[in-house]
Amino acid sequence: MKKLNSNNFKLVIQKKGRLADDSVEFLRSAGFIFEAYTRSLFTKVRNFPLEIVFARDDDIPDYVQSGVVDLGIVGQNLLNEYRSKVKKLLNLQFCYCALCLCVPKESAVQSINDLKGKTIATSYPQSTGYFLKANKISATIRKISGSVEISPALGTADAIVDLVSTGSTLASNDLRIVSKLYSSEAVLICNSKAVTQKSKKIDELLLRFKGVLSAKNYKYITMNAPIKILPKLKKAIPGLKSPTVAPLAREGWISVGSVIKEDIFWETIEKLKRYGASEILVSPIEKLII
Ligand code: PRP
Ligand code: ZN
Repeated sequence: MKKLNSNNFKLVIQKKGRLADDSVEFLRSAGFIFEAYTRSLFTKVRNFPLEIVFARDDDIPDYVQSGVVDLGIVGQNLLNEYRSKVKKLLNLQFCYCALCLCVPKESAVQSINDLKGKTIATSYPQSTGYFLKANKISATIRKISGSVEISPALGTADAIVDLVSTGSTLASNDLRIVSKLYSSEAVLICNSKAVTQKSKKIDELLLRFKGVLSAKNYKYITMNAPIKILPKLKKAIPGLKSPTVAPLAREGWISVGSVIKEDIFWETIEKLKRYGASEILVSPIEKLII
């Protein structure tokens, strides 16, 4: 049987489940080349000294904390549930979801105060316990490991605490949200010893990851504009330092290029058009190293 080499630099990701495919896709978009046979325990990255280990998501915080692996990609929800002491390095901006308290649509429960004396089914007993305690509500927590959403219909619970992402599981089970316990997304975690002992490797990896994340948050645009509106354009598109300006063959006109933030994309485009920019060309950025 192949064994993990304890000296190698290792990152653990989920073998199967909500984060599995997106984690592989994220690592590939960061430029790592590897085979992802999830039946095997681990795989070697071909173009970087890194081994990727596949594990059950519940085990990931432990593997990282104990130093079996150096890094891991896991849902923030699991860190919250286990109150794990691992160091979080980066939010990875995928697999967004929230841990929510939900009840059947026709339930009389309107607010969390109505939960007194009720039974709540969940795979997140710790998070649920902290939440009830913080709100001074005494209710029974029933821990189950899967298909939490069918508990109310089975008559085994009055409410559930479960992850909600698209909301389709709730809709198909006639449930509604009463309260949100916390939001979650995929995060990169790190063993505390590795942070100091393998800092150079971790920095290299972080540079790649951040390059992908920044690129996702920005677009590159170029446009043509009369030179007299340049001061206005500079204000609307400050770029990372300042926009690129090149003269056009046509007298009095320039071409302006800049990155702009995804979250203010449309309002910026509208502004530029209003000022008199035309032929606005928008391109995605593959990586952006700031
Ligand atoms: C979670 C949760 C719901 C579903 C919600 O399950 O328990 O079943 O996702 O997602 P939605 O709002 O997009 O429908 P998960 O995929 O983690 O699998 P599991 O319940 O089998 O652990
Ligand atoms: Zn589920």
